[in-house]
Amino acid sequence: MLLKIQNTESVSREELEMILTTEDEAFVQELYRQARETAREYYGNQIYIRGLIEFTSYCKNNCYYCGIRCGNKNAQRYRLTTDQIMECCETGWNLGFRTFVLQGGEDPCYTDEKICQIVRQIKEKYPDCAVTLSIGEKSRESYEAYFEAGADRYLLRHETANEKHYRKLHPEEMSLSYRKNCLKILKEIGYQTGCGFMVGSPGQTIDTLYEDLMFIKELKPQMVGIGPFIPHQDTPFKAEPAGTLEMTLRLLAVIRLIQPGVLLPATTALGTIHPKGREKGVLAGANVVMPNLSPVDVRDKYKLYDNKICTGDEAAECKACMSARMKSIGYEVVTDRGDYKG
Ligand code: 5AD
Ligand code: FES
Repeated sequence: MLLKIQNTESVSREELEMILTTEDEAFVQELYRQARETAREYYGNQIYIRGLIEFTSYCKNNCYYCGIRCGNKNAQRYRLTTDQIMECCETGWNLGFRTFVLQGGEDPCYTDEKICQIVRQIKEKYPDCAVTLSIGEKSRESYEAYFEAGADRYLLRHETANEKHYRKLHPEEMSLSYRKNCLKILKEIGYQTGCGFMVGSPGQTIDTLYEDLMFIKELKPQMVGIGPFIPHQDTPFKAEPAGTLEMTLRLLAVIRLIQPGVLLPATTALGTIHPKGREKGVLAGANVVMPNLSPVDVRDKYKLYDNKICTGDEAAECKACMSARMKSIGYEVVTDRGDYKG
């Protein structure tokens, strides 16, 4: 069955159910082995590292799962200035980062002009680096402007490809069709585009996951970000159970097999639910890690979920820690833009 999935780069609803529910440990280990072998064919034992700069914790949206939702009056809000962002890049560049990911809530304070100016400044100073934006839903014109300014990649998790499930996770004013269309536009413009979802989000089922995988197959994104859902104490989902390590690893492996060249991060959320989560993610087919480059004094204010790791660590410590973690399982963190090779 795994061979068939590998050869067809597709999975059926029944196969997915079997993969996600089986208690056959030998089968699961074989799944992970094949996924990491597939990653190896494209990327060897190299792990790409991205410097994550969480530049604003303001957000106009009110997603039920997210700690920085506008309805959370306890959230601590901050914005980084362009100078602060440039300082993060400098620190990162010196540590060997060649991709900067600008991530933030949907914060109208950062106008298109401002975003373009930040992107231009980074690209001017670091022409050998890729700039990734992760700033949510925008118009085609905005996405085009950022691309013109030099942005290379864009991350926008679709969160779920199922309409009913999307409604359970988001308030009325948000829409799945709008979001899917954003992803389509991003790809058309020429961004290396990433979609993704949380594993174990409230209301998720094997059927919704199957739809997620079919959506990925259709969109053919260059990147897919998945990590466990982790409840945040100040959200409507505070009492919901977290997604599991096991489920996340199995899904990482399946995504690697159906989209073999994909850039697939072992996320911070995965590292949060298990001390060796990111290592296990790589051993299940992931090939990217995204340590935090945000200034330490704002780190714990960008809390999408509870107990987030690395909030007290300087970028240099995170980089060293990550290199050591990857080395311990036979992988090497590289100084590279880390472009898509699929
Ligand atoms: N647990 C895990 N991941 C979360 N995200 C938002 N809130 C949570 C949470 N409580 C994820 C979403 C979003 C990405 C930036 O972080 O999938 O797209
Ligand atoms: Fe941040 Fe280990 S990766 S301290």
